[in-house]
Amino acid sequence: MTWCNKRLFKLMLSATALLCMVLLLGAAEPKKKTSQRRQSAPREEWQQPERVMHDLNLRPGQTVADIGCGSGYFTFRLAEAVGATGKVFAADIDRKSVRTVQDRAAREGLTQVHAYVSSPTRTLLEAGCLDAALMCDVLHHVPEDQRVPLLTSIAEALKPGGFFFLLDWKKEPDIPFDSYDQKIAREDLIRYAKQAGMELDAEFLYLKYQVFLRFRKPAR
Ligand SMILES: C[S@@+](CC[C@H](N)C(=O)[O-])C[C@H]1O[C@@H](n2cnc3c(N)ncnc32)[C@H](O)[C@@H]1O
Repeated sequence: MTWCNKRLFKLMLSATALLCMVLLLGAAEPKKKTSQRRQSAPREEWQQPERVMHDLNLRPGQTVADIGCGSGYFTFRLAEAVGATGKVFAADIDRKSVRTVQDRAAREGLTQVHAYVSSPTRTLLEAGCLDAALMCDVLHHVPEDQRVPLLTSIAEALKPGGFFFLLDWKKEPDIPFDSYDQKIAREDLIRYAKQAGMELDAEFLYLKYQVFLRFRKPAR
């Protein structure tokens, strides 16, 4: 093989390798799109918010809390359920989320919504002021050593006999949100709430991606 032929041969090899890489990347692309499509399925499809709200069984005039409210997905549904005579404390450690909820509440004239910045392990609410508290997709974001302190603070804020609703991702391989390692096993969710002084009272099994548990603060 002459020097020129060798060079040509090397060039052809490089071009073939490049082509293979492009083809491989192209083959990977549809998979990425599928998982993106799964993740962007509208939340209403898997969250079933009307059914969840029905199971919270709230009444007008009640005082409730949405701990880790985010942009208020449940806050405004809670506000509708308790009405203008009720109160919704929307707590989050993230200032921007709190501002988002405050702005929407102000825009919509929902004076029953009180959004505020909470501490990572404390609700900062008055003891015994809540009929119910909700925490949806929050606990897996809380460092392990802060989970029981935060839940204890929620228990303290509940009235005796008050309910705590806990929703979080199922620890299963195909849940298209967050990593498997981040997720908390159902047994651990129950253990944390029990360590915080609450009793498991009911479990709702219809949600595709989330464990949905109801705890009760023991009556005095
Ligand atoms: C995935 S979002 C869920 C938001 C909302 N609950 C929902 O269902 O759409 C998690 C939220 O929990 C908040 N968060 C994380 N740790 C928290 C803590 N220790 N106390 C209060 N909020 C917390 C985050 O700032 C974030 O807004």
